Amino acid sequence: MSNEIVNVREYEALAKQKLPKMFYDYYATGADDQWTLRENIEAFARIRIRPRIMVDVSNVDMSTEVLGFKLSMPIMVAPTGHQKLAHNEGELATARATSAADTIMVLSSSANSTLEDVAKTGPGIRFFQLYIFKNREGVAEVVKRAERAGFKAIVLTGDSPCLGHRENDIKNRFTLPAHLTISNFEKISDSSILQSKSDKSSLAAFADSQIDSSITWKEVAWLRGITSLPILIKGVLTGEDAALAVHSGVDGIIVSNHGARQLDYVPATISVLEEIVQAVGGRVPVFLDGGVRRGTDVFKALALGAAGVFVGRPVVYGLAVDGEAGVRKVLKMLHDEFEVALKLSGCCQVQDIKRSHVWTENDPL
Ligand code: FNR
Repeated sequence: MSNEIVNVREYEALAKQKLPKMFYDYYATGADDQWTLRENIEAFARIRIRPRIMVDVSNVDMSTEVLGFKLSMPIMVAPTGHQKLAHNEGELATARATSAADTIMVLSSSANSTLEDVAKTGPGIRFFQLYIFKNREGVAEVVKRAERAGFKAIVLTGDSPCLGHRENDIKNRFTLPAHLTISNFEKISDSSILQSKSDKSSLAAFADSQIDSSITWKEVAWLRGITSLPILIKGVLTGEDAALAVHSGVDGIIVSNHGARQLDYVPATISVLEEIVQAVGGRVPVFLDGGVRRGTDVFKALALGAAGVFVGRPVVYGLAVDGEAGVRKVLKMLHDEFEVALKLSGCCQVQDIKRSHVWTENDPL
């Protein structure tokens, strides 16, 4: 039997075998009952594709533009923290693999690599994901460092005034190994908290003591005042917040439930995408993350109005199993599956994907 890996799910099983339980659980699990974690996958499965046949698909172009940057495909890498728990090269391997795939990597505020070291891996289009720490001057300095290091946008995560209730991390008494830190915020935060045992996970203790839970939409204007980079807001799940986001002046919206790690029983992102696309009315691009595991998932998200998608866990699993080569393979498998989905649906390019290419539960039979 061949042990060739043929889809991104297979990397999850291998990562589970390879990683210590505390680290695998940190990557894999969600909040509370993990209903949203399952729903992120199941909601995609409930959407049907309505393919068109007898279309000339001999020339397919999967490229797209995001904030003016040309990408090989509408599939990008979501910010995920602590990638050195998966592999000793962590974010540096992910950065190299993502550049090789000609797409965007978002570097997490919880990265174990500095943004300067990520920049040094070579050319690439990279965004920096931002948590606003209580030390506001320190945050402004990190944003300026990102700008100087050539990062192209700030992704402000809006769904995390505190950490979600992640029971596995609590049971495991999650702590960060002593040789790792959250490298970009080391100077402005007390990262020893991450290494100390607490009665909850050290991640939750760290967030409680270091993250500013008072932030509101006015922080978008504050960011505008300190950087000329475009600003995306991540974590929008309602049409109401999408309207406020546009009003606050963001350059793009990421529909996200943080991979079901924050509030449980929120809907799957794919279930609320259309509501948000309608509220935004084309004023800024809308992206989605959460549960994207197949090229057909990418196709479905684009049909419902997303300008592109981000993937989180599959990238980390590829990294855990095979470092940079694993991330390359994850991105290639998603790329190739999306190409097949396009062709078999009668589309030659991303713009050809229309709402009529999918059926959702809200549509008449
Ligand atoms: C995340 N996510 C995340 N988001 C963010 O804004 N900052 C962060 O530091 C992290 N860290 C993080 C760690 C891990 C291990 C995971 C799995 C996720 C959320 C992430 O950006 C994205 O929203 C989800 O991962 C998307 O869902 P999938 O693709 O994992 O299903």
